[in-house]
Amino acid sequence: MDKLAIDGGTPCRTEPFPSRTPFGDEEVELVTQAIRSQNLFGPGGTMLAEFEERFAALYEVKHAVASTSGTAAIHVAIGTVNPEPRDEIITAPITDGGTIVPILCQNAIPVFADVDDSYNMDPDDVEAKITPRTKAILVVHLFGNPCDMDRMVDIARRYNVALIEDSSQAHMTEYKGRLLGTIGDLGCFSLQQSKHMTTGDGGVTITNNDALAPRMRLFGDKGYTREPGPRMYEFLAPNYRMTELQAAVGIAQTKKVAAVVRKRNELGDLLTASIQGAPGIEPAPVTDGGKHTYWLYALRGAAGTADEFAAALSAEVVPCGAHYIGRPIFLCMGALADKVTFGSSQHPLDGCHGGRLIDYKKGMCPRTEKALQRMVTVSIHENMTREDILDMAEAIRKVAEGLEAKRDKKGSDQQSNSEVVRNNIC
Ligand SMILES: Cc1ncc(COP(=O)(O)O)c(C=O)c1O
Repeated sequence: MDKLAIDGGTPCRTEPFPSRTPFGDEEVELVTQAIRSQNLFGPGGTMLAEFEERFAALYEVKHAVASTSGTAAIHVAIGTVNPEPRDEIITAPITDGGTIVPILCQNAIPVFADVDDSYNMDPDDVEAKITPRTKAILVVHLFGNPCDMDRMVDIARRYNVALIEDSSQAHMTEYKGRLLGTIGDLGCFSLQQSKHMTTGDGGVTITNNDALAPRMRLFGDKGYTREPGPRMYEFLAPNYRMTELQAAVGIAQTKKVAAVVRKRNELGDLLTASIQGAPGIEPAPVTDGGKHTYWLYALRGAAGTADEFAAALSAEVVPCGAHYIGRPIFLCMGALADKVTFGSSQHPLDGCHGGRLIDYKKGMCPRTEKALQRMVTVSIHENMTREDILDMAEAIRKVAEGLEAKRDKKGSDQQSNSEVVRNNIC
């Protein structure tokens, strides 16, 4: 067996993997056009409207509203659903803080459903967490792997709560022939640099529901109706308007995203096929009826080995990390773990006015803690080739086998030591 690079052996591969190059001539051309127009204000230009139309067309929905970030897009969705202060929103414990911030900013209380083997929210736990105060379920399609949307839709309908999809990591991702973001009442996307399509920072909220659309459009623009006559700001809302610059980039990106997603799906599935049977390794899970689009490739290593595995794999020059966000999101955020919210009020988590008092602490989502402990994330992307993926697979196998051999050796050393001890006793 080849010696691991971390132990001084030769790495599986000497040249680095290719980096992403999401932008090209068309982005340059359109941004230049936007600047030459002498107007970068979205509602006063042409790029923003065109971007929103193109995005809606991609998803075959009637309404799309662009904004400044994925966080903003989720805030737009929650503002559209319009919870009463201290209503509850059930969401995922493995996600970015941008899923949670809008819930709190809209004065609602995040409630966490534990994950199942897919790393996504377990529908049974979602249902168990429903209370009379539940206003919405905010699912997160983690890493590009769809949630069990049949179950989520069924639960949302039976309990008459809104269903919002955080598809920030799952652009153009199919579940049973439908695109994520179009299955619930509202879909939200981040256009941050690392996402399948990007404007550096940016976001989009979509819906097919004509009743929700007017509030969705107003929410990211201060509630401003922009009608002639005296100004009217219909309700409390922030300004999340996208500028013509991001929209120009977004237009070009709408033409590329389908190919990006197709390629990632193909490469990720190839990686899964190529590491089958590697000792102690469980490849990235894929939900039944879904097509994973691998924003990140998250595999499960043998218990207790994620740090060692990621260090050894990095030494083989594979871009990877251990544990993703490290802890359930509620332990990562002072706003939840310590209730540092508005001044010293702890609002809306203060238990006042009939609001639920939740102690966001370790042990609340035990399966999430275990999943993160064993998680190793590998970065794959559309600029990689099949050969790159096969090299990666070889490195993963090498590391899995090398670590297994070390574990076996340690086990047999321990056993022979205890035999020595036993023999001495005899
Ligand atoms: C699942 C998820 N939700 C929300 C966000 C927030 O998006 P943004 O960083 O664009 O605000 C992200 C971004 O990383 C994300 O991955």
